[in-house]
Amino acid sequence: MARALVTGGAGFVGRHICARLLSEGLDVVCVDGLVQGTGALAPEHWPVPPKGQFTFVPMDCRDYFARSAERFDYVYHLAAVVGGRIMLETQALCVAEDLAVDSLMWKWAVETRPGTVVYSSSSAAYPVALQGPLGHVLLREDMISFEAGLGVPDLSYGWAKLTGEFLMKLYVERYGGRAVAYRPFSGYGEDQDLAYPFPAICRRLMAEAGRAEVAVWGSGRQCRDFIHISDCVDFIWRTVDRLPAGVSLNLSTGIATPFIDLAEMIAGQIGWQPRVRGQSDKPEGVFYRCGDTAMQASFGLKPQVTLDEGVARMLDHLEFSAGCAA
Ligand SMILES: NC(=O)c1ccc[n+]([C@@H]2O[C@H](COP(=O)([O-])OP(=O)(O)OC[C@H]3O[C@@H](n4cnc5c(N)ncnc54)[C@H](O)[C@@H]3O)[C@@H](O)[C@H]2O)c1
Repeated sequence: MARALVTGGAGFVGRHICARLLSEGLDVVCVDGLVQGTGALAPEHWPVPPKGQFTFVPMDCRDYFARSAERFDYVYHLAAVVGGRIMLETQALCVAEDLAVDSLMWKWAVETRPGTVVYSSSSAAYPVALQGPLGHVLLREDMISFEAGLGVPDLSYGWAKLTGEFLMKLYVERYGGRAVAYRPFSGYGEDQDLAYPFPAICRRLMAEAGRAEVAVWGSGRQCRDFIHISDCVDFIWRTVDRLPAGVSLNLSTGIATPFIDLAEMIAGQIGWQPRVRGQSDKPEGVFYRCGDTAMQASFGLKPQVTLDEGVARMLDHLEFSAGCAA
């Protein structure tokens, strides 16, 4: 049976990765420090309890790397201090700790030689200059090139992910390891932490249903590429052994949705049409972040969950949770 290590496996993406690996018959070791301010949940609180050969190690992965020399078939390295936009903007040096975590992971991988390392990068690694109100473009994988030159990524989080990808390149080219990376855009799902816009807007609009006016952060015209977590995990599973070593793949839909449109869609499904305005005292991040899908399409990948359906699932989940709490 293949064995996988999932660092940060108790977080939002990690829980879904663990579930998929277990359902595919892998033996999973999940190492997570349950870091405050992240989306971590101890396994006993996971919406779907892990089934199969699952071991939870509640530990900072840096300590795990110092103590364990086990060779895994796969290492899914997801551990990171992420949080929502406020965290990225106000805790930039806390987030920069990801640089230390990633460099230790690559060093440990050189020593233990996993079959494949899966590095969880981010769309935040793309140059912010390509994401402004003027001249924004669909972000294509080759727009990050360590040979052709680089643009400035999004805050310390983007720098950490860009550096992580550079270390992957060194790991592959100079140490002969096998590793691939994924750049998720705005991954969302029912069990995501409320620090993220998608669940936060759904929750707020449910609470404010019927009001004449509601607000979203920033100008509200900023766009994101929302992709359901089930599509993210499926895309990873279907390409992890097919991507050439050292290659990074977007996890995106290619559809840019302004926050105001998202809020109108959510309100429409709840059953009313408020005026949606921006909130200029709240951060909006980059103006336009949307990922090109040509490379995903070349692997036969096409998202299955539309945004409409994702909203419906989220609202059902929130109604069910409210019903349970009542
Ligand atoms: N959710 C998205 O849409 C998205 C988008 C881009 C990139 N990513 C990347 O995917 C990965 C997972 O993100 P997420 O959304 O699940 O975040 P999350 O906050 O839900 O999960 C991160 C997990 O990492 C753990 N962690 C942090 N530092 C650790 C350490 N030193 N040792 C052990 N565990 C540690 C936390 O406890 C948490 O459980 C991250 O690398 C993130 O950068 C996610």
